[in-house]
Amino acid sequence: MRALELWDGLPVRRLAREWGVEHVDAFDTVPSTNDCAWELLSQDCAIPAVVVADTQHAGRGRRGRAWSSPEGGLWLSVLIGSRRPSPVLPLRVGLAVVDSILTCTSRVGRIPSVGLKWPNDVLVGEQKVAGILCESREHHTVVGIGINVTQNGFDGTLQHSATSLAMALTAGLPDPPAAELPRRSALAGRVLKDCRRWPGPGELDPGEVARMNDLDALCGRRLCADGGARGTGMGIRADGAYIITTESGAAVELRTGGIQLEGQPS
Ligand code: BTN
Repeated sequence: MRALELWDGLPVRRLAREWGVEHVDAFDTVPSTNDCAWELLSQDCAIPAVVVADTQHAGRGRRGRAWSSPEGGLWLSVLIGSRRPSPVLPLRVGLAVVDSILTCTSRVGRIPSVGLKWPNDVLVGEQKVAGILCESREHHTVVGIGINVTQNGFDGTLQHSATSLAMALTAGLPDPPAAELPRRSALAGRVLKDCRRWPGPGELDPGEVARMNDLDALCGRRLCADGGARGTGMGIRADGAYIITTESGAAVELRTGGIQLEGQPS
């Protein structure tokens, strides 16, 4: 684990100002940027504080899963102040990630069908391109964001379920224009644009709800929730719950766990 002076070709000491945050640490490889961000707390670091790394060897996903973090992805964690964990935080961050992807790729090409899969996945079509892991302690939260940027393929179980911006932008092109892929630093800057506003209010505003429901990749589809509930996806509410309706017409509110398309593995 080596602290870097240049990250993505830019001087790290300039990144904090460019990203509008108080502190940035960049490393070649770390176990998990979320862990590094928690360590900043004991150093009395001003917040928001950001940690980025080129690779992680113990990257974490939600529900105890490992997060594959080779070179080519944006692996970033932000330490923010927050009084209590908010169920809408990962949703709000998901919107920021979608905005970042759409803005930073707009000059290069068009990524078709970017969507959100409640509560924290960013999809291109049916495949996951980014994930968000929020961890909260008493007065702080670490928001961990992983975006697959330049990877050209995935192994094992990720082969069919994951994609990268490079793969999405170059699908079907004979000679992929690799040099024109979005810079990790630009994606990070755009994601972090409004990070001071992430902690509050505890409900999504009507504009956020509308955008989220526009991007909802589950709406109208047959779904199966972790708790066993089955039904059709109806969308996200201001309090962050996802609503499905069962065959009998009852509305079920989902607040924790995950949702899968019926017949797909969790
Ligand atoms: C998920 O979809 O399950 C969440 C994935 C979150 C991955 C990011 S990468 C940066 C940060 N550090 C980690 O160890 N995890 C998050």
